[in-house]
Amino acid sequence: MPLDLPAPSCSFASDNSAAVHPAVIAALSAVNEGHVLAYGDDPYTRAAAGAFDEIFGRAVDVFFVWGGSGANVMALASLWRPAGAVVCTDIAHIHVDETASPERVVGVKLLDMPNVGGKLVPAHIDAHVHTLGVQHHAQPCAISLTQSTECGTVYTADEVAALADTAHRYGMKVQMDGARIANAVAALGGTLDALRSFTVDAGVDVISFGGTKNGMMYGEAVVYLDRSLAAAAPFVRKQVSQLPSKMRYVAAQFSALLDGGLWLANATHANAMAARLAHAVADLPHLRLDAPVVNSLFPVLAPAAAAELRAWCPFYDWDPSLHQVRWMTAWDTTPEDVDRFASGVHAVVPGAAR
Ligand SMILES: Cc1ncc(COP(=O)(O)O)c(C=O)c1O
Repeated sequence: MPLDLPAPSCSFASDNSAAVHPAVIAALSAVNEGHVLAYGDDPYTRAAAGAFDEIFGRAVDVFFVWGGSGANVMALASLWRPAGAVVCTDIAHIHVDETASPERVVGVKLLDMPNVGGKLVPAHIDAHVHTLGVQHHAQPCAISLTQSTECGTVYTADEVAALADTAHRYGMKVQMDGARIANAVAALGGTLDALRSFTVDAGVDVISFGGTKNGMMYGEAVVYLDRSLAAAAPFVRKQVSQLPSKMRYVAAQFSALLDGGLWLANATHANAMAARLAHAVADLPHLRLDAPVVNSLFPVLAPAAAAELRAWCPFYDWDPSLHQVRWMTAWDTTPEDVDRFASGVHAVVPGAAR
């Protein structure tokens, strides 16, 4: 039976479903005037690259690209070595959600390890050390970690540093899939020091820095903290079809987010909406739900309840074998949306008053 309650104005499917922040639209409009040189040789791209120097507190090399999978492919392609392999988790986006593009486009073997709370741990790297230098095995040349992780957890700075130390000891580079890096920074204190603590200070070499999930229309940035890796990056970006010709429109969006801290405000809000939702359904004894760290929740819901709720307000499955779904909030989820969604949850979960 369809739920007879006012539905939220947004879905809880993904932060990719969110609208574009008005400041980003305004920034697109502001640069939409006259001709500038293409492919990044323009003042807007230089200004946006400078904004990354500011947030990282040192000079970095920034390459704007079209999308998140493309950013990962470009980053990994610039770490490629013959017979290369990349150590990642079994839930890594590069492993389960990028249609084998690292394997096909980059030409690396992904060595997926059983995640520990969504994370890679140094033992996962140690497990492959015996293969180094052995001609019968793909050669681990990098590790890839996702911050925040696919299951909504966050690496501490110490955890990243331990991984980077281990990887570097064996000659491997460290790539961070930061499609939701802003949500991780927000969860770790919401300061630039927090960002720097788990990136530059922890030994990360290259970051896929997300914008789309945090209020942009499209576009991500590949940020080289190890600047020696950036020499080949322009060529790699073009080879993997991630060079936007009208670069100013990606750059302007990043400036809108980074200048003035909108990126952290958006992510802090999205995280807070997930926390609000968790609080609003915490009284339901039949809903198994861990407290969210960032902007996603992973409750276990009976299939009939999930179907009824989903028909009223969309969201995705996470692990159907466990009846686990994912509810995700975004920069534009409102408290009213959350409260309406929570009413729907109360209506479908057994044990709650109908
Ligand atoms: C962890 C993670 N990395 C990367 C991406 C990039 O995806 P896309 O290529 O759809 O922008 C996503 C998108 O959902 C993601 O969740």
